[in-house]
Amino acid sequence: MSTNIDIFPLIGKRVFVSGHRGMVGGAVVSQLENENCEVLTASRAEMDLRNQSEVNDWVNRERPDAIVIAAAKVGGILANDTYPADFLYDNLMIEANLIHVAHVAGVQRLMFLGSSCIYPKFAEQPIKEESLLTAPLEPTNEWYAIAKIAGIKLCDAYRRQYGRSYISAMPTNLYGPGDNFHPEGSHVIPGLIRRFHEAKEARAPHTTLWGTGTPRREFLYVDDLAEALVMLLKQYDEPGPINVGSGEDMTILELAQTIASVTGFEGEIRIDESKPDGTPRKLMDGSRIRALGWSPKTDIRSGLERAYRWFLDNHAPAEFRSV
Ligand SMILES: NC(=O)c1ccc[n+]([C@@H]2O[C@H](COP(=O)([O-])OP(=O)(O)OC[C@H]3O[C@@H](n4cnc5c(N)ncnc54)[C@H](OP(=O)(O)O)[C@@H]3O)[C@@H](O)[C@H]2O)c1
Repeated sequence: MSTNIDIFPLIGKRVFVSGHRGMVGGAVVSQLENENCEVLTASRAEMDLRNQSEVNDWVNRERPDAIVIAAAKVGGILANDTYPADFLYDNLMIEANLIHVAHVAGVQRLMFLGSSCIYPKFAEQPIKEESLLTAPLEPTNEWYAIAKIAGIKLCDAYRRQYGRSYISAMPTNLYGPGDNFHPEGSHVIPGLIRRFHEAKEARAPHTTLWGTGTPRREFLYVDDLAEALVMLLKQYDEPGPINVGSGEDMTILELAQTIASVTGFEGEIRIDESKPDGTPRKLMDGSRIRALGWSPKTDIRSGLERAYRWFLDNHAPAEFRSV
């Protein structure tokens, strides 16, 4: 996949993946199975990442060689807007604890994950890494974005002050097996899969799409992301964010039509313009990661089919994670 040399070979290393029960963490754990390294995980009951002494004890006991921060408080527009304190506090604490404790314990390699929402609302498209902090953020998710920007800056600060190889990757909107299909806390793809599936089951004549349907979004299948992240963990060592996206965007209406086709919903898709749209367009510039030899393998239709299959296999409303 990449022609570059491993500056941090993973063979024989102890790699701690935080948030392994989540969509991204789970995919990273699977991807690391190809690397002959030892993967370490910890449940939330074992270590609440917001608690510094628990993080300190665990890291000093387990002594990982590398840490991937795939744990975070994650959600869509509604969840961000409803729980601003949780989104800001939880994410600040998780990243500050892990990054600081990693440094104090002498962990030389760490990868932090942010998201494309760290970039300004009206950033020039496609969004380059350099546009960070050049203009105001999208207000609906600024709590989350500000915490994530602080995480990038923490990595850069420990690099600058202590020479730590701490890097930050910015995935675009993700989807796939393991996604959160909760009706209120989910992102656009799992939310629509669930809604269209339920509308099909109920033989509903129509279902409603929030917003105008015109915003353009980029989506990446989570296994493609995991492949990119493991490559970056081995090969990339620069400050600041590096974008990880598919390089292609589509309108929310086009996405909804594709999901309708994948789920077999044949009714009408209505638009509810009273609901917020968010940023008008969000496509990240992927030149930097493409130059390292990575590109995604999964087209949107096949990725959605796999996500829908996972949803059907795991469809048990009582078990949906809470927001
Ligand atoms: N999903 C996306 O579209 C997307 C897009 C761009 C970037 N990202 C980034 O990718 C990362 C992972 O996202 P995801 O979609 O995989 O999220 P997710 O499915 O919600 O998983 C998050 C994980 O973090 C864990 N966690 C949260 N708070 C914790 C705490 N206080 N202590 C211990 N563990 C805690 C959760 O544990 P429990 O299982 O116990 O709840 C869960 O395993 C995040 O940094 C996110 O910003 C995601």
